[in-house]
Order: sequence, then C-alpha cells, then structure tokens
Amino acid sequence: MTGVVVVIGSMNQDVVCEVAKLPGPGETVLAAGSRTNPGGKGANQAVAAAKAGGCVEFVGRVGRDSAAAALRDSLGAAGVKTAGLQEVPGVRTGRAYITVAGGENQIVVDPGANFVWACGVESAESELLGSADVVVAQLEIPRSVVTRAAELARRFVLNAAPAAQLDDELLRRCDPLVVNEYELAAISGAPTGSRAQAAQAARVLCLRGAPSVVVTLGAAGSVLARSTPDSVEITYQAAPQVDSVDSTGAGDAYVGALSAALADGADLPAAVAFATAAASLSVRSPGTHAAYPTRAQIDAALAAVPAAHN
Ligand code: RIB
Repeated sequence: MTGVVVVIGSMNQDVVCEVAKLPGPGETVLAAGSRTNPGGKGANQAVAAAKAGGCVEFVGRVGRDSAAAALRDSLGAAGVKTAGLQEVPGVRTGRAYITVAGGENQIVVDPGANFVWACGVESAESELLGSADVVVAQLEIPRSVVTRAAELARRFVLNAAPAAQLDDELLRRCDPLVVNEYELAAISGAPTGSRAQAAQAARVLCLRGAPSVVVTLGAAGSVLARSTPDSVEITYQAAPQVDSVDSTGAGDAYVGALSAALADGADLPAAVAFATAAASLSVRSPGTHAAYPTRAQIDAALAAVPAAHN
C-alpha cells in the first residue's frame, strides 16, 4: 500500500486483568492474572493500519515517563512514524484499566497527557494532517483537536469512541464515521439493539449530513450506510465466525485496516470487507498491537469474509 494515513489520537499504557466474569457494581472479583500492554485507541489504530500495509504517521501527546518510551517503541516496531508524538512535561502518559472476561471487556481510561495540547494542533502537525490521504481520529483527545484535524483532512475518518455528541458540522466531515452499537445509540438517540435498528440509526446520521457511517457489531459484522444524492444506501457485511479470546482493541484493528485500505484507493465496501477480515483475526489472540494481523494475513483471511448484501 502506498497511501499515507495520519492517526491523531490517544496513547495509553493498558493495565489488563483477566477475570472469569466481569464484576458488577459493588462487586469484588479476583483476577487470574494481569499484564501491561501498549494501547490507546489512537496508537492501536496506527499500529493496525501500519501492519495492514499503510504508511502511517502518529500525532499525539504522552508524558515524559517510561510508559511513553515503551509506547513509542511499540509504534516504531510496527513501522509507525512518530515525529508528531510530543512529550508533555509534568503529566503522566495516559493509562487504561481493562478487565477481560473471555471475549468481553470493560475499560476505564485515565487520559493524562492525551488531553494536554497547550498549543492545540501545531503548524508541523497541520502540514502532516493536510497532506495525508486519510486522517483518522477518535475521542480520547480534546474535541478542539479533533475538529481542527477534520478541517485540515482531505479525507477524515472518525471513530467516535468513547461516545459523545457530535455537531452536524463535524458529522459532515466524517467519511466514514465509525461507531459500535452503543456509541451509535448515544450519538443518534435511536435504539440500536438489532441490525435493522442500527441501520436505521446510521441512516439518521447520514440524513444529518454524514457522508457515510459504519456500525461495527462484533461477531454480527457491520452495517455500512452511505449518503447518495437522493437517499441513503444500506449494506450489510457479515463477519467470519471465529473463537474470540480477547476483543480488546478489535474495533481499533477494524478502523486501522479500514483507513489503510481507503488510503490505498479502495472504495468503502471493499475497505469494510478488508477491515472485517482484520478484526476477525485480531480477536484470536490476547492484547492489541501484537494481536493485529499483517497485510498478508488479512489478504489470506478475506476469502472467508462473506459477500456484503443490501
Ligand atoms: O480500544 C481499546 C483501547 O481503548 C485500549 O487500548 C485502551 O487504552 C483504550 O483506549
């Protein structure tokens, strides 16, 4: 792939506990074990895009600490360029506390440096963003930074996670907006419990101005909604059935692979199929960066991705 993807987003040190069952409110459970992983939705998506064959630059903020050094190394090992990664003195690198039970997870993020952009998007960063084929952002960094990235981007992909309200101006720049069913419900205000409801809620966001919306539904695949001059076209993409060991960061594998494919000139349905193959491979082993597939692995898995249908 030759297209350039710039990911602007978060970088976290993930502290992961494996439990038999996710704890409920007020409940204490014992972990079978714990580990520390590189993470953050931005860093994960950058690594996923690079492993999927993209030429990737990362723009973000970390503290001046050992976690930042390990994260920088993890991006570098995947081939992600980090000239746009700045250290903020006196602030800790972001940290995420993740509980994993089988294929399910719960995540709490302490954003730390991810939210410290004293000068906003700086001029060298603006140049990177403006020259990329695809710019990708998430919502673990300040909204003002996301908005500026969207204004500068030639093509903007927003993974609206964690969920937050989006104004119509930002929605108009998302091609696509990528959300899971919970984020879609929070943003659209519509029910998303079934695939048909998710399609209807995505249609609502297209009617508000989004050129395209992708809803990721885990093992149930994804829904693609695209605005046309006189309607909204809906496509369903099923996913291959796999045994999920750890779904943490599977959405990031999807967004990264999707962005790499778009930067390489794929159309949105083809990029969705490519991303579906990548995400289905990523859940087969624990963690994030190490679990993300290479371009060759994704290409091989594409044969098992069912054809999309309306
Ligand atoms: O999407 C998974 C990621 O969410 C984790 O790596 C964690 O850091 C949080 O950002």
